[in-house]
Amino acid sequence: MFKENTLKNDVILVTGGGSGLGLSMAKKFASLGADIAICGRTEEKLEKATEELEEFGTNVKWYATDVRDFEAVGMMMSLLTEDFGKITGLVNNAAGNFLSASEDLSPGGFKTVIDIVLQGSFNCTHHFGNYLIDHELEGSILNIVTTYAEDAGSAFVLPSACSKAGVLAMTRSLAFEWAGYGIRVNAIAPGPFPTEGAWTRLFPDEKFEQMYLDKIPAGRYGQHDELANLAAFLMSDMAPYITGECVTIDGGEKLSGGQFNFIDGMMDRRKLKGMFKMLKEKGNRKK
Ligand code: HXC
Repeated sequence: MFKENTLKNDVILVTGGGSGLGLSMAKKFASLGADIAICGRTEEKLEKATEELEEFGTNVKWYATDVRDFEAVGMMMSLLTEDFGKITGLVNNAAGNFLSASEDLSPGGFKTVIDIVLQGSFNCTHHFGNYLIDHELEGSILNIVTTYAEDAGSAFVLPSACSKAGVLAMTRSLAFEWAGYGIRVNAIAPGPFPTEGAWTRLFPDEKFEQMYLDKIPAGRYGQHDELANLAAFLMSDMAPYITGECVTIDGGEKLSGGQFNFIDGMMDRRKLKGMFKMLKEKGNRKK
């Protein structure tokens, strides 16, 4: 689907690009010819990720920047545009999350996640958007949200649910407002893609993990490359007319709320079909 030079003239900043899905997306972009900037809080992680990214042969730089700090993000953006000569794409991927009963959350815990996810995405988007507008350049923003950002929210991850819903609102608000500048704003809502950051915080043991796995119709977790391909498509010139869109990639997990979906887990498919046949015959007798 992609050519090696699909992202050749791009310079893309991936926040939280030192590990996990951020690094996987950055690798995909680099393999398609993009120059890559990554930022995060931990220098060692960023250094190691940069070494891995350099193997694709494009220009790569890291910036030890906490997205929560508006001034620091501004300084990074100035440095980055000096280093690379320009920036064309931003992926707001940096996130924070933990499991907690909402009645036990401290204001600090709530604020920390809001600051990373919602405020952090705003900080990066605001600086990036202003850079593009000032220089009369077009560009693309991709926000990594979650499947619970859209409708239902989620128990036990309240700060994350609130933040990601905010980022989704930002995606659609700005897609409209900045379309005239040639700035596209899209989102991806990933279901479960194993990463150390999320798994150590959200999956306490194997039994818990199995229960989680059981509710995914596809019967498996997502592979990083599957998400990275989607991200590359949305960031590329192959999607110039797509903006304000949120693409779910979750093996059908989001659909598990369907009213009769629970039947699927009650018995095997053969018995299920037998039950449907019996119901049909019963219905026919009543006519
Ligand atoms: C309750 C907690 C807590 C926990 C921290 N806090 N961890 N409260 N339960 N497990 C509270 C603290 O008490 C403190 O509140 C405040 O949060 C700040 O804590 P710090 O440890 O000082 O913050 P910091 O070092 O900045 O760490 C941020 C973090 C951490 C979000 C808490 O988890 C982190 O760095 N995460 C980054 C990586 C990550 O989370 N990845 C997962 C993303 S997955 P007080 O009141 O004492 O000040 C994702 C998608 C999910 O987003 C989809 C999965 C299927």
